[in-house]
Amino acid sequence: MQILEASFKSPGGCVRSHSEKIDRELGFKIDQIEENLRREAIELDPEGSVNSWGKRMHEAQSWIGLCPQTLLTPYDELDRMCDLINLPHGAHVVDLGAAYGRMGIVLNQRYPDAHFTGIEIVQERVEEGNRIYVEQGCQNARLIHHDMFAGNFQLPLADCYLIYDYGALDHIRWTMGQLENLAKVHRFQLIARGETIRSLIQYAHPWLSDVGDTKHEKNFSVYANYVSNPS
Ligand SMILES: C[S@@+](CC[C@H](N)C(=O)[O-])C[C@H]1O[C@@H](n2cnc3c(N)ncnc32)[C@H](O)[C@@H]1O
Repeated sequence: MQILEASFKSPGGCVRSHSEKIDRELGFKIDQIEENLRREAIELDPEGSVNSWGKRMHEAQSWIGLCPQTLLTPYDELDRMCDLINLPHGAHVVDLGAAYGRMGIVLNQRYPDAHFTGIEIVQERVEEGNRIYVEQGCQNARLIHHDMFAGNFQLPLADCYLIYDYGALDHIRWTMGQLENLAKVHRFQLIARGETIRSLIQYAHPWLSDVGDTKHEKNFSVYANYVSNPS
């Protein structure tokens, strides 16, 4: 990756402004793309809002109209996540609902031998993230355009998953059900960001929340599951 002037760790102050600065340095055109999506949504549904535009355009909560710095996890936090996870050599990290795939950029610096896959339903975000990966030489990172609720979606096998409240409760519940099944045969870590997923794990997924190796930070938690015969 090209040398960035700014570090992913925020020097203090506003972490969102810090992330905006890094996006600019990397060459991301996130504001422009999100504004174009918002305008398209208004044309389709002038009375709509961030609660309805995503469903209208992508049949999922794609958060069209949301401020980009709320949509995305700040680099400072992604960097802190990398401090807390414990990845084996050549690990695979998957972001379920990845947007522009910022985690792929951070991982490239923090764990250069790790592979990153981001699943995202909005084509424009996928194309932009992959463009930046190519420009920055992040050869181990890729974004895939897919709906996680499509009948043909298969959860990729990974050493670590990242989920930041990507949709409505029933959608997140569905993904947690898939992870629960996988956890019976495969060991992984899960980084959960946002209130919805963290409450869901606390109240409905004791197999993950009660294992005693959880690390809680202000906005996210890192969980690890245990299986006797991991794949
Ligand atoms: C809150 S953003 C999080 C982005 C990224 N994980 C991060 O932490 O910066 C959630 C993303 O999930 C995507 N998403 C929502 N429903 C989806 C689905 N059914 N399939 C794939 N992606 C989805 C949205 O379009 C959005 O870009």
